[in-house]
Amino acid sequence: MHVGILTGGGDCPGLNAVIRAVTLALINECGARVTGIERGFLGLLTRQVRPLDARSVEGLLAQGGTVLGTHNRCDPFHYFGAGGADCSDQAMAYAHEMGLDAMVAIGGDGTMSIAQRFVEAGLPVVGVPKTIDNDLMLTDRTFGFDSAVSVVAEALDRLETTARSHGRVMIAETMGRYAGWIALEGGVAGGADVILLPEMPFDLEAVADYCRAREKDAGYTLICIAEGAAMKGEGMTVRATLPDSPDPIRLGGAGQVLAHRLEPLLGSEIRSTLLGHVQRGGSPTPYDRVLATRFGYHAAQLVRSGNFGRMVALRGDQCTSVAMSEVAGRNRVVPPDDPLLRTAMGIGVMLGQPT
Ligand code: F6P
Repeated sequence: MHVGILTGGGDCPGLNAVIRAVTLALINECGARVTGIERGFLGLLTRQVRPLDARSVEGLLAQGGTVLGTHNRCDPFHYFGAGGADCSDQAMAYAHEMGLDAMVAIGGDGTMSIAQRFVEAGLPVVGVPKTIDNDLMLTDRTFGFDSAVSVVAEALDRLETTARSHGRVMIAETMGRYAGWIALEGGVAGGADVILLPEMPFDLEAVADYCRAREKDAGYTLICIAEGAAMKGEGMTVRATLPDSPDPIRLGGAGQVLAHRLEPLLGSEIRSTLLGHVQRGGSPTPYDRVLATRFGYHAAQLVRSGNFGRMVALRGDQCTSVAMSEVAGRNRVVPPDDPLLRTAMGIGVMLGQPT
């Protein structure tokens, strides 16, 4: 059996751990030949591949990023390098020429959408869900999320001491696109006083009132805002638009905007820190190393049993699989009845709503 592996979309901690687990499981359990496809689906068009074996995946478990490289703009069905033309035939022809029996695509909703189209075109693909945003449908967790949350928690710990010393309002902005999972879990883990999520447009006056009250009482306020959070009646803060990307909007700057809008309403000074790609870099946490290894092993089992068009998923504590078509192009946001959201409210975290 000859199996290809690729990583698509934005990188995240744990990708290498999945590559390692898929490769080792396929070699150990069925003597498969494994080939890494470089830079996501682009490698199928540019014919950039490399063999993977037990030796080449050594030391990958704890290594951040992806040794295969990735690409967040290459959709062979709408290839920017050819003016948006459908070049999928070229990719399929190369996969056949290599003699690929199956492919494992590790990525987010965009990668799953493309992978699903390849399944429909006749290439057997298994998906593995990755993203620090934790916003993929039908899986309770994606690997990379825990690592991002630990970065946010550590940043808030550090911002708290300086906020307290100076009696300031400190704002930390997290990633997460249209979902508030990183801000919610990172904010709770880092003891934020205010957590602002894309799912709950916030009331600026209410946030100002809360900060004023803390000015008198604690003397400082720690705010954790998701990049997708917006004031009631206003839009999200867009950092850039990339027309040749399948997901063209890049959010960023919500924390700075909040600082500008809050400052005139408060007596205290405000500083905003954009955590940015620091959340995506570096070594995966032990939780993510284990989850990535479980996902990689499960993906190898799906390949071996011929369960294609499926994405590995975590439901409760069990690894299972779901139809890739049900995940493609959809996002999972924080529901109003999320238990952690209720917990945060219950312990008095301000979520941007008037009392
Ligand atoms: O989806 C992962 C993510 O890190 C988002 O949280 C963020 O909005 C986006 O990717 C950033 O993308 P880029 O790496 O293109 O700036």
